Amino acid sequence: MYNEIDLDKIDINSEPPEKEPDRQYYFMAKCRKWVKDFEQKNGRLPKAFVLNMGCQMNARDSEKLKGILLQMGMEAAEDETADLVLYNTCTVRDNANQKVYGRLGYLQTLKKKNSHMKIALCGCMMQEPEAVERIRKTYGFVDLIFGTHNIFKLAELFFQCLVDSAMVVDVWDSTDKSVEQLPTERKYFFKSGVNIMYGCDNFCSYCIVPYVRGRERSRPSKEILKEIRELAKDGVKEVMLLGQNVNSYGKNLAQEQICFGQLLRQVNEIEGIRRIRFMTSHPKDLSEDLIAAMRDCEKVCRHLHLPLQSGSSRILKLMNRRYTKEQYLELVERIRQAMPDISLTTDIIVGFPGETEEDFLETLDVVRKVRFDSAFTFLYSKRTGTPAASMEEQVPQELVKDRFDRLLKEVQRISSQVCMRDAKTVQKVLVEDENDHQKGYVSGRLSNNLLVHFPGDASLIGQIVPVELVEAKGFYYIGRQQSGSDAG
Ligand code: 5AD
Ligand code: SF4
Repeated sequence: MYNEIDLDKIDINSEPPEKEPDRQYYFMAKCRKWVKDFEQKNGRLPKAFVLNMGCQMNARDSEKLKGILLQMGMEAAEDETADLVLYNTCTVRDNANQKVYGRLGYLQTLKKKNSHMKIALCGCMMQEPEAVERIRKTYGFVDLIFGTHNIFKLAELFFQCLVDSAMVVDVWDSTDKSVEQLPTERKYFFKSGVNIMYGCDNFCSYCIVPYVRGRERSRPSKEILKEIRELAKDGVKEVMLLGQNVNSYGKNLAQEQICFGQLLRQVNEIEGIRRIRFMTSHPKDLSEDLIAAMRDCEKVCRHLHLPLQSGSSRILKLMNRRYTKEQYLELVERIRQAMPDISLTTDIIVGFPGETEEDFLETLDVVRKVRFDSAFTFLYSKRTGTPAASMEEQVPQELVKDRFDRLLKEVQRISSQVCMRDAKTVQKVLVEDENDHQKGYVSGRLSNNLLVHFPGDASLIGQIVPVELVEAKGFYYIGRQQSGSDAG
């Protein structure tokens, strides 16, 4: 998924080019020279470990980071006993940050045993000046820090680390350019994320994402479609269109008039692509046009992740979500009318400042009315710099915990009933992996994203096969493959 460039043909003794991505290829070539020298000296290749600690956007970024490191000639490592450890961090809730600090202690002990070892941190948490400051002060053994806007610069920054013993820090506040033509190492050969937009302009009052991922920027549709066509040629059957708020795709594109529904229809036409998913939707921007596009496009999966956050209109207003409880319920109604078999999942935050028992009961009410297939439930986490952080009436921990437990119980009770509605039917499954727990079984996903385990071998991975859902297990099925091929 990039211009095949022969790194050995690049003159690494000349000055680095100014233009991207040529500049990065130049530094990849320089790093490759270092890899070869390392190999000669140590009798082995240097190993790199990239850990994705965040969402699907981060996972996609991690694939790009891995692609660059492998292109340099480094070997992929399975864990932190490597010569380069790169954590792609998240910061959506404070426990994500705490996890990084915790792991840094462990990395320090590993570094003492391996004199070659470089430690690098990137991603959302590095966009927070307080976090970078703390790492500079307390974790001086970290070699490299960069942010979300300049991940494409990994080769250049890593090279700087190799020649410079001081900590290299390069974090940008924002960017108007995205460098796409770089190597990518996909985790799965048959499915891939595709960024359709970056950043977020919604400013939900609890959320740090607009501050760390910057303003909303859509990619031109021509570029996206070209990327997907190339992925399809490369064997990809399922694409996940990624953005913080995909429903507002196209709004800020100067050079063309296009909305997300239109983009979906165009992706649906691409030969070889069999399944289309997308993440994440904002209820306020989910248009009739998009519902119609989802209904009409046979490749669009029967799954919609529609974050609710709270069922109380009062709290939703304080959250700056710009919809009410009634509007959310009515939207769900319209979606289900158009697609009765759709699976709905959601995100809910418990304990937003000022949340009362009555507000919480409104949330439970929506959960009972919508009957989500599943819901990710979160304890509210105060994020410095967001409007909610300075709201008074932060809810006491014990109350929040009690509400959280009650919500989780209800979500799970409903989910175990709803998820199993396809029992005994035959459904298409995209096989993803061999099953870790049960030898002779493979695991795959239904169009609605539920997992199915069934007897089979590795030759099925990447194929879409008909499977009878024999046994409903609450959150997954045990199945039996039916005759029929992967065609069509
Ligand atoms: N506290 C708790 N949960 C949060 N989320 C975003 N910000 C916070 C926060 N400050 C949740 C939202 C979002 C999901 C990705 O993370 O539910 O949809
Ligand atoms: Fe975490 Fe949000 Fe960054 Fe994703 S975009 S990694 S959820 S902070």
